Amino acid sequence: TWTMLNIVEESVEAVRKQVGDGRAICALSGGVDSAVAAALVQRAIGDRLTCVFVDHGLLRKGEAEQVERDFVAATGVKLRVVDAADRFLKALEGVSDPEEKRKIIGREFIRVFEDEQRAIMADGPVDFLVQGTLYPDVVESGGGTGTANIKSHHNVGGLPEDLQFTLVEPLRTLFKDEVRRAGEELGLPAAMVWRQPFPGPGLGIRIVGEVTRERLELLREADAIAREELSRAGLDRDIWQCPVVLLADVRSVGVQGDGRTYGHPVVLRPVTSEDAMTADWARVPYDVLARISTRITNEVREVNRVVLDVTSKPPGTIEWE
Ligand code: XMP
Repeated sequence: TWTMLNIVEESVEAVRKQVGDGRAICALSGGVDSAVAAALVQRAIGDRLTCVFVDHGLLRKGEAEQVERDFVAATGVKLRVVDAADRFLKALEGVSDPEEKRKIIGREFIRVFEDEQRAIMADGPVDFLVQGTLYPDVVESGGGTGTANIKSHHNVGGLPEDLQFTLVEPLRTLFKDEVRRAGEELGLPAAMVWRQPFPGPGLGIRIVGEVTRERLELLREADAIAREELSRAGLDRDIWQCPVVLLADVRSVGVQGDGRTYGHPVVLRPVTSEDAMTADWARVPYDVLARISTRITNEVREVNRVVLDVTSKPPGTIEWE
C-alpha cells in the first residue's frame, strides 16, 4: 500500500543517515521481526550489512531453509550461516529443567555469535547492531534506548550486554501487523512474514525431558503435520499459535497392526490470544483434530498417542516449559 511503501522508504532513509558509511551486523532468528529489520537495513546499506544465522538445530521443519535460501533470494542479504546444532545438543545433554535449557541455549547463542562477530570484524570495524525491536517492546522495557537489553524471556537472539555497538532499530515505531505489511512490501517469503510466534529456544522447550537429536526429529515431523493441517483448514489467522509438545519421558501402550506399541504422546496446544499474556484454548474443529491425530500416529514412528490441551492461560502457560 501507499502508506506502507512510505514507511519502508522513510525507514530506509533513516537507517542510511544513522549508519552513514559504517558497517552493521544482524542476527537472524527465522522470525519476522529480525527478517524485516535486516531487509530494511540491507536496502539502506547493502553489503555493509552482514547477517548471521545461528542454526541451533531447534527450529521447525523448513525454517532454516527459509532463512538460508528464500530470505537470501528475496533480499540479497549477505549472510553467514553457522550450523551449530552439534554444539547446542552437546551443551543440552542430560538437561531436563526448562530454565536450565533456556540458560544454556542463550549462553551458547551468545558464544557462537561472538565468534562470528570477531570473524566479521577481521574485515574491518563494525559499529552497528541491528535489532527487530517493536513498539510494544519499547513500551514494555520503559522506552530506554541505546542498549542491547531485551527482556530475558525473549533472549535467544538476545545478545551480550557488554557489546560495544550502537543499536539500529528500524521497527521501533511499528506494531506487529505493520511489520508484517512491511515484510510483504519488501517481498519477503510469506511463510516468514506470517509465521506465528515461536520461542527463541525453539523445540528445545517443547520436548519435556532431555533434548536429543532423535526426539527433535520426531517432534519436527509431528509439528510439521499439525501446521500443515491447520493451514489447510484455513485456521492460520484464527489461531495465535499451536505448540506441539513431545512428552519424551512418558510412554503409553498402543496397538498398531498386529503389534503392541509403547510410544510417546504428543500434545497439541492450539490457543487463541491477543498478546500472549492471556490465552484460551482454541476450539479447533473435530475433523481437523482427527486428521492431525491420524496422520501423526501413522507417519511418526514412536508417537502412538495425540492429546489435546484444553487449559486456558492462566492457569496454564502457552508453552509447556
Ligand atoms: P508462555 O508459555 O509464557 O508464552 O505463556 C508466552 C509467549 O512467549 C513465548 N515464549 C518464549 N519466547 N523465549 C521466547 O523468545 C522463550 O524462552 C519463551 N518462552 C515462551 C511463547 O511461545 C508465547 O508466544
